[in-house]
Amino acid sequence: MCGIFGIVTKNQEISVGKVVFEGIKRLEYRGYDSCGIVSLYNSKLFIKKEAGKIDEIHKKIKLDEFPSGSRLALAHTRWATHGAPTKQNSHPHLDCFDKIAVVHNGIIENFLELRNELTSLGHTFKSETDSEVIPHLIEDFMKKGNSFKDAIINALKKCKGAYAIAVCQIDNPDLIIVARKESPLIIGIEEGKTTYCSSDIPAFLPYTRKCYIMEDDELAVLKAGEVQFFDLKSDNKLIRKEMQTIEWNIDAAEKGGYDHFMLKEIYEEPDALRFTMKISDQLLTKFANALISADSIYITAAGTSYHSALAGKFIISKFLGKHIQDMECSEFETQLKCSLQDNSVIIAISQSGETIDTIEAIRWAKKTKSVKILTITNVVGSSITRYSDHVIVTNAGPEIGVAATKTYSTQVLALALIAVSIAKTRKIISNEEIVKYQDALAGIPNIIEQFLEKNVDLIKYIVNNLEKNMNYFFLARGISIATAKEGGLKLKEVACRFIEGYSAASAKHGPISLVREGFPIIFIAPPDETYNRLVGNVMEFKARGGRIISVVVESDVKITKLSDITIRIPQPADKFHNLFSPITFMPALQLLAYYAALAHDLDPDKPLNLSKTVTVH
Ligand code: F6R
Repeated sequence: MCGIFGIVTKNQEISVGKVVFEGIKRLEYRGYDSCGIVSLYNSKLFIKKEAGKIDEIHKKIKLDEFPSGSRLALAHTRWATHGAPTKQNSHPHLDCFDKIAVVHNGIIENFLELRNELTSLGHTFKSETDSEVIPHLIEDFMKKGNSFKDAIINALKKCKGAYAIAVCQIDNPDLIIVARKESPLIIGIEEGKTTYCSSDIPAFLPYTRKCYIMEDDELAVLKAGEVQFFDLKSDNKLIRKEMQTIEWNIDAAEKGGYDHFMLKEIYEEPDALRFTMKISDQLLTKFANALISADSIYITAAGTSYHSALAGKFIISKFLGKHIQDMECSEFETQLKCSLQDNSVIIAISQSGETIDTIEAIRWAKKTKSVKILTITNVVGSSITRYSDHVIVTNAGPEIGVAATKTYSTQVLALALIAVSIAKTRKIISNEEIVKYQDALAGIPNIIEQFLEKNVDLIKYIVNNLEKNMNYFFLARGISIATAKEGGLKLKEVACRFIEGYSAASAKHGPISLVREGFPIIFIAPPDETYNRLVGNVMEFKARGGRIISVVVESDVKITKLSDITIRIPQPADKFHNLFSPITFMPALQLLAYYAALAHDLDPDKPLNLSKTVTVH
């Protein structure tokens, strides 16, 4: 995936180069292996592009300096899929005569055929990318007499795959044309003055909160301070779209005084959770009823969202009294080809709403059987919502750090809220107990706030203590296995350590042979029904020389006595709070990963080889 951003303005005060440079910096989480900017001035395209991170490139070639009279610019930040991250492969891509410039996010699946066809017509390609076919196709249609807009429409008709594109052309110096299919695109507008296009809202939020969210198969013509939308599915007819106002401000999208987005987003968890609590009872009841009446239930996602699915299935099935089958989204079709039945319900979880494997899993299921899709996402209007019967938006606010933190806890909270709604609907526990579960949920933000306030030094001390160890375990039982797996994933991705999150019981069946004197094992140990058995597991690992670090509740005694170090979560030791421990215990592990990344001189916001949204298989 990549980020695209563009501006067309009447405002003579603005430096379009500066605006798009700042804009793509805010989109850098979408890809950061190369970037490029084009501005149009005096019937000429001015281009700067290079491989590397935006700030590094800026130091070399001053990415914000373009002719001062230019009123139009496009920018792109890339995460390579087709072609290595090189200057040639970075966007914008041009036609043969340097008249048309295109920035593209997505994948043109049939680009090889198109490239061969265009080459045989005499077009010359300068990159290995799929994207470069787009300007050449537009060039071809314009040569045949199409207007700029019609040429884009006809070019897109030939492209199979996903795209959000923004295009400019030297003979149309006042407009940008954009189009979307399966990749996000939002239009920001300062009416009468300036229009922006962007893969995400934070890029234009310093200038305007007014925007339009584009849908698949829509094209828009952007002029300074005005925009027209066209529906490519119905004869390209002009359509009216509703303008939206963004409620959150740019502070939410910037680091706000923290060194990294990841740290900021961990500290935002209490407030993000408070927002998620506002999900309406009506919507929760819809989810609850769909699950109660389903014959079979699946829960699917990728990565961190899959771990929230593991925690969520545990919490929901407690009150639902039915089995919920978890399934990694990439395996969904392969594994369920012969067994998916009508009247199944699939819970799909994706913070971005753009993960292609998750979208394809539910698309396939919908095409194959009569199923209902219940989606949990953090992004309003994201692609996944189009294939869903009911959608819960977690409202965690933008998450810029590549490692998911607040989106994880809010996903688990959304699943917990559904669980309590099921308990209410099914009347399987007393009203008094329901109130206790609700109180426990309502208290989560305060527990996390208290933890974050008092434990940073302890976490830093543990990081120092672990520093020389390349490998260790997170072990747990029951619901906490999800926490252990997610803690392990966080450390792998941001601190580049091989940490395995595993079942404490299963670890005896093989992994225990890794344990030597001083080998660190972090036990996740809320005082739930698995606690006493976990005590036995801690003793087994301790007896073999393991260094025991445990995450426990404040009043813990037994595991504390066996541990070299304890991290204490300030929450009561009762079943109501234990059930939601995947939310309250996680910030400790996220902080551990964050400080471990710093200790190893790594940028926690930009883990190696990773991007925030995975839109390739
Ligand atoms: C890890 C992380 C990834 C995502 C995964 C799914 O910190 O963020 O593992 O969880 O790529 O992404 P979404 O939730 O956007 O579908």
